[in-house]
Amino acid sequence: MNSEKTYILAIESSCDDTAAAVLCNNVVLSNVIAAQKVHAEYGGVVPELASRAHQQNIVPVVHQAILKAGIDKRDLNAIAFTRGPGLMGSLLVGTSFAKSLALGLNIPLIEVNHMQAHILAHYIKEDGFNMPPFPFLAMTISGGHTQIVRVNSYFNMTVLGETIDDAVGEAFDKSGKILGLGYPAGPQIDKLARSGNPKAFKFTKPKVEGLNFSFSGLKTAILYFVQKETKQNPDFVSQHLNDICASIQYTIIQILIDKLKLATNETGITHVAIGGGVSANSGIRKAIKDGEQKYGWTTYIPKFEYTTDNAAMIGIAGYLKFLEGNFSNQNVMANSRLKI
Ligand code: KG4
Ligand code: ZN
Repeated sequence: MNSEKTYILAIESSCDDTAAAVLCNNVVLSNVIAAQKVHAEYGGVVPELASRAHQQNIVPVVHQAILKAGIDKRDLNAIAFTRGPGLMGSLLVGTSFAKSLALGLNIPLIEVNHMQAHILAHYIKEDGFNMPPFPFLAMTISGGHTQIVRVNSYFNMTVLGETIDDAVGEAFDKSGKILGLGYPAGPQIDKLARSGNPKAFKFTKPKVEGLNFSFSGLKTAILYFVQKETKQNPDFVSQHLNDICASIQYTIIQILIDKLKLATNETGITHVAIGGGVSANSGIRKAIKDGEQKYGWTTYIPKFEYTTDNAAMIGIAGYLKFLEGNFSNQNVMANSRLKI
């Protein structure tokens, strides 16, 4: 790659995390995240509160990222930001801030697609982590998306299949809500599942054609199951929480792995990567890794801190665009429904 040093400041504000990172070429110098606690009591992200919290967080978070990187803002070569997809009020904060700072420093502005960035996180240079060769398949699994993407090159990606209703992260979070767990429930289900029996309870997998996914039926099945069981035993959930979580997680993993198997068979591509918040899940990470032995895959599992929303992934996407001279102008607008 480039022998010169390029410093990119990256800003991510698409949902409920205000994040900033500084990269020197493909190496992360700092990666700062302010997670918004305010949503927990509502059981989900409240867009208006998220936007307001971003406004409060953005200056200190960016300041921290530059400070931790050990550079001066005048050393920056470009500013990358998340243009979408995400919540409009949240995206607007990062977009406006990035535009103003780029203008003030008189350096290029680079828009980044959040979902592409979850995939491009694999090109951050980290010891012990390999970068996938093209073409490869990426399964993006997050609170807002569930897709299988054919990645032809850094910025040429084709969506082969996606969810027709809930995202997989929502399946975790909504199931957790039914069980009385706080938001986001994904990490808690992961933890509780570790000491549970994944075959204790059986939930039917949805039948969806091709490479598309569906998760809303699973949530309903879990709701009816819990309602039925608690009618007979009011303490059912607390007595069987680990087993219920393990069984839910097992079902979700089966759904994801079945579709990935289909995608690798249909495309003949055996390099498989995952990205997005749900790729933090220990069961999913193991199941993908096991695919190496079972199905002959070569797998790429992101470093834990680059799974849930972060600005380092925006920074690497920004750096790759910088190398192509692919800049945005000051008229660029946030786009809450930006496609891959
Ligand atoms: O990528 P992300 O941080 O934000 C979006 O772009 O949506 O993903 C957040 C989602 C939430 O639904 C959260 O419950 C889920 O990722 N998540 C997990 C785990 N860690 C985060 N789900 C299952 N197991 C985990 N360990
Ligand atoms: Zn995300």
